[in-house]
Amino acid sequence: MPVNCGTMFTVKNHLEIQNNHLIIGGADAAELAEKYGTPLYVTNETRVIENFSAYREAFPDADIYYAAKANGSFALLRLLARAGAGADVFSYGELYMALLAGVPAEKILFNGNSKTDFELQKAVELGVRISVDSRDELHTLSGIAGRAGKTAEIAFRVNPDVSTPTHPKISTGLKTSKFGIPAEEVVDIYREAADLPGIAPCGIHCHIGSQILDTEPFIEAAQKMMDLVEKLAGIGIDLKFVDMGSGLGIPYKKGERTPTPGDLADAILPVFNERTQALGISPKLILEPGRYIVGDTTILLTRVNTVKKAAKNFVGVDAGFNLLIRPAMYDSYHYVVVANKASSQPEETYTIVGPICETGDVFAKDRELPRIEKGDIIALLDAGAYGFSMSSQYNGRPRCAEVLVKDGEADVIRSREDIEDLMAKQRLPARLLQG
Ligand code: LLP
Repeated sequence: MPVNCGTMFTVKNHLEIQNNHLIIGGADAAELAEKYGTPLYVTNETRVIENFSAYREAFPDADIYYAAKANGSFALLRLLARAGAGADVFSYGELYMALLAGVPAEKILFNGNSKTDFELQKAVELGVRISVDSRDELHTLSGIAGRAGKTAEIAFRVNPDVSTPTHPKISTGLKTSKFGIPAEEVVDIYREAADLPGIAPCGIHCHIGSQILDTEPFIEAAQKMMDLVEKLAGIGIDLKFVDMGSGLGIPYKKGERTPTPGDLADAILPVFNERTQALGISPKLILEPGRYIVGDTTILLTRVNTVKKAAKNFVGVDAGFNLLIRPAMYDSYHYVVVANKASSQPEETYTIVGPICETGDVFAKDRELPRIEKGDIIALLDAGAYGFSMSSQYNGRPRCAEVLVKDGEADVIRSREDIEDLMAKQRLPARLLQG
């Protein structure tokens, strides 16, 4: 359903308005809602590649490992694998899908603070590098690799003790966080690892948080990481890679200015380049962006079930926090457009709520929007990162479909679940079968 008449203007980033309708990737969002039903996740393929390219251009010498947790939809993994991305994976499931999508094993880092023995075994068997999060895990891994007659290439996840101005639930580099080895123990653990069978320490890794809107914490983390790299070089450990994780924020609010990959490069590359040159070493820089690559590529379309004037003007839609939990979990802001009235003047203040039996099931509070009626299509913007990937079937709600659009054409990349999917894995004990 390519759109080709009426003046087109931009509403936010790659999203446009034409004939009062929201347009994504050349397709009319309201028509997509009609054709595929709601709720519906819609991703603009071209935008995924634009965002990935922005990272590559900013860091031409680095490897970009896409953080699969942000959006693990297989079509996106495949698209990014084809574009040359590596992958940061946090479970065997993500590892399996990244490999199947075509990400080369040598460009995958298996991360996680509490991996199972099975996951470690799989990582060793499949030959991917592992970011080790504790001394206990190091010894488990040494045993597993030794028994398999293999050598696991590892990094340690460092806790650099860097405070980040973001939501506390997504700040991961604080001293009190569950992630990583305290910076002061790092040299000792590398020394220990170097002597263990089945272990080859060859990298170092950190990740300080997510949705960070200032480059200062990245500079601080880079300096602390390079201090450690220097100490490790001093004990003869020559690292092949330095993985600085991710965390670059995106502008959820319209007009908000946030650092770009270019700004991040200007902030951390001087530290990385100067320090490695001074040491005469040339480790590969790795970055693990998730949100920046996919966050703004996707909208969640949801249909208005009911409008109610009470203490507030409530708009009840057919998506709930089971499909997009970010506002409920992190009080996050998502820009709202009425997809079938996209350029109509705002007339009322509305609060957009889902159908779930919890007061916290609110997508957007007190927004100035055109007059809303039953049947209208609401688009929640910037839902590509940690949207579908954090979805659930809470309240007996099958998950929705996802479509990928490119040049006005749409393809279903995940079909809508139905009632059978709610029942799929459930079993009754024999004593409950009768009657
Ligand atoms: N690397 C590691 C080790 C991570 O834990 C994460 C995200 C990333 C990379 C990617 O970070 P990003 O580029 O997306 O900031 N659900 C939360 C965000 C959780 C982030 C978890 N780790 C949200 O919706 O805001």
